[in-house]
Amino acid sequence: MKLTIIGTGYVGLVTGACFAEVGHRVICVDNDAAKVRQLRAGVIPIYEPGLEELVKRNVALGRLSFTENTPEGVQQSDVVFIAVPTPPQPDGSVDLSFIERVARDIAGAMTEYKIVVDKSTVPVKTGEKVAETIKRYCKAKVDCDVVSNPEFLREGFAVGDLMNPDRVVVGVRSQRPVAALKQIYAPFRAPIVVTDIASAELIKHASNSFLALKISYINAISVLCEASGANVQEVAAGMGMDERIGRRFLDAGIGFGGSCFPKDLSAFIKIAEQIGYDFRLLKEVQRINADQMDRFVKKIIETLWVLRDKKIAVLGLAFKQNTDDVRMSPAIALCQRLQKEGAALRVHDPKAMEKARPLLPDATCVEDMNAVAEGCDALVIATEWDEFKNLDLERVRKSLSHPILFDGRNLFDRAQMEERGWIYKSIGR
Ligand code: UGA
Repeated sequence: MKLTIIGTGYVGLVTGACFAEVGHRVICVDNDAAKVRQLRAGVIPIYEPGLEELVKRNVALGRLSFTENTPEGVQQSDVVFIAVPTPPQPDGSVDLSFIERVARDIAGAMTEYKIVVDKSTVPVKTGEKVAETIKRYCKAKVDCDVVSNPEFLREGFAVGDLMNPDRVVVGVRSQRPVAALKQIYAPFRAPIVVTDIASAELIKHASNSFLALKISYINAISVLCEASGANVQEVAAGMGMDERIGRRFLDAGIGFGGSCFPKDLSAFIKIAEQIGYDFRLLKEVQRINADQMDRFVKKIIETLWVLRDKKIAVLGLAFKQNTDDVRMSPAIALCQRLQKEGAALRVHDPKAMEKARPLLPDATCVEDMNAVAEGCDALVIATEWDEFKNLDLERVRKSLSHPILFDGRNLFDRAQMEERGWIYKSIGR
């Protein structure tokens, strides 16, 4: 099918590349001309495993192209996807101005019937507003169906998640656009859940908030584990074997971050408030998340006492593994807290160092993870990169002035670490 995606951020670019990969002809539109030029030249602005090859292959095959011209994108396709940012406002609500702008642009360019699909994460009832806006601004007075099709991909696993989705959610007002959406998604062989538009929009916020709740739940359990001598990983394993619960998203740590969970939680709380419901459960999820970081900082201070003039090594700056994204990263927040206490930092991340530099201008970036701890008083692990499990622990231990490791992601076995002479502090164990 002929598809257009407006917005080449994480969701838009990965969606465009994956749609092209399964044989659709895709035009990706972005109003940033420099970005479009880069993408045409095969330069991918984000690190996402597998994405670069996918983009290059499909551009070469003529199935994927880039333009900054929205009318061209709209007129040459049957279905137009909206994948533009929905950033948070200071009060936690969502800024929908990009969505509104794109709806008007689409309306202005439409000369025949189109299906307009919203992929951005939006508050419930946004689809209705998009449909109203397109109707109002469409000079040609042609028909259009608005569809809500939320995206569930995770950064760092985006291509895999998009190519193998658990489900595809399609929210519609009438049955007319359903066949086209089913045709687009047929190659992905996933169950397609057809709902009304409001339900589809709610599924996205409800899912992200539930996952954040699961993480805060296990983080709260980690506090009980520490107080009672239990081991949170054993508790999570035992809970997770119940199929009704599941083991995923039960990894205790220094809290969740990134550009989705914190923003979507605040937005969902605000949306609920506007509908007249005080979502106290989700406010508690936020509070537990903030406490988890405070508790970890406290643990470091309790052990090292005064941080002023201490040197601390930090492994991990991205908000999670497999990405160079540092937006709302708990690791960056932790570094900033340690710096505020007066510590000097040596930091390493396999992919995120470049993006972290402007946020941590005073930290020393170290290319080799095994050299990060040289001359430091302690080592901290802040992101769950698999690479860190292969750390040369002997070399790192000798390079530290004291063998102290604060493992904020529970990457190592506590008993083994203590046997090897480490003062090892982790989460909930
Ligand atoms: C999240 C959702 O998982 C996706 O389904 C959704 O599409 C996406 O938001 C979005 O709305 O766009 P993402 O933000 O990429 O994806 O990252 P996650 O893998 O969900 O991790 C979020 C945070 O939770 C990270 O900071 C991670 O370290 C933390 N986390 C995750 C834990 O602390 N413990 C866990 O067990 C899992």
